[in-house]
Amino acid sequence: MTDSDGGCCRCCCSFIFTLGLTALFMWLNLRTSNPKCSIQTFYLSMPSLNETLNLTVDRTLNLTLRLDNPNKDKGIKYDTLNVTVYDFPNKSHVLGNILVPGFYQGHKKKATKPVQGTANTTVALQVVYENRMGVFRVDMATAVKFKIMFWYTKKHKISVGADVVVNSSGFKVEPKGIRLKSMAPKMGSFCVVVGALVNFLVFALLNFW
Ligand SMILES: *[C@@H]1O[C@H](CO)[C@@H](O)[C@H](O)[C@H]1NC(C)=O
Ligand SMILES: *[C@@H]1O[C@H](CO)[C@@H](O)[C@H](O)[C@H]1NC(C)=O
Ligand SMILES: *[C@@H]1O[C@H](CO)[C@@H](O)[C@H](O)[C@H]1NC(C)=O
Ligand SMILES: *[C@@H]1O[C@H](CO)[C@@H](O)[C@H](O)[C@H]1NC(C)=O
Ligand SMILES: *[C@@H]1O[C@H](CO)[C@@H](O)[C@H](O)[C@H]1NC(C)=O
Repeated sequence: MTDSDGGCCRCCCSFIFTLGLTALFMWLNLRTSNPKCSIQTFYLSMPSLNETLNLTVDRTLNLTLRLDNPNKDKGIKYDTLNVTVYDFPNKSHVLGNILVPGFYQGHKKKATKPVQGTANTTVALQVVYENRMGVFRVDMATAVKFKIMFWYTKKHKISVGADVVVNSSGFKVEPKGIRLKSMAPKMGSFCVVVGALVNFLVFALLNFW
């Protein structure tokens, strides 16, 4: 009788342990990394001196956005990319809002998307250039689904942004790409890591018990 009790308990323990290992393996395998976003080019057409008071002239606002999928074996499906440019880092006025259609990106792929639109002339004329430099804020919001084998995860919202320094001709000063950083709190991934550690400890203890 004690034999069968012990057997049952051992069986139960190894079942729980296997479950734990499976959960850990799945977590390691299903972990996803958000795409890396950066601004490669930025251009805002400047008013020439004789047309500064002409508010009907459209200003070109062009930038190129680079999106890298860092995941080794997961594709990314992007919703519409919503790019908003502000005239100050403190987001005082919207200079332009441009939407880029969503798309699918395979694993380890890089994409360069032209973002072309027009700037609000009223705001463009108010941009303050100190030492022939203006600072703009560029935000990008979208939602992504990760493709793991044949199925998709649920949607994750992504909200990133960066300050861009532009010279008086309207071009980005920094020759390299400017990384757009996440504006969401980092709490989520912290909890996942702590949760996984606690799980692992519990199952390790169960194994030795
Ligand atoms: C502004 O002046 C330039 C020459 O200085 C001229 O070619 C251009 O047509 C003028 N633009 C307007 C809107 O008058
Ligand atoms: C794009 O983002 C801006 C700024 O957050 C927001 O005002 C606008 O409604 C968004 N547009 C769409 C189509 O989601
Ligand atoms: C944003 O910053 C600019 C310059 O730094 C300043 O002139 C403006 O008043 C600020 N706006 C707000 C709403 O704080
Ligand atoms: C900006 O984009 C427009 C298309 O919307 C294109 O015709 C124009 O050449 C671009 N300008 C620059 C300076 O890249
Ligand atoms: C341009 O910006 C001004 C000031 O923020 C705003 O009042 C106006 O409605 C904007 N124009 C357009 C076409 O969005």
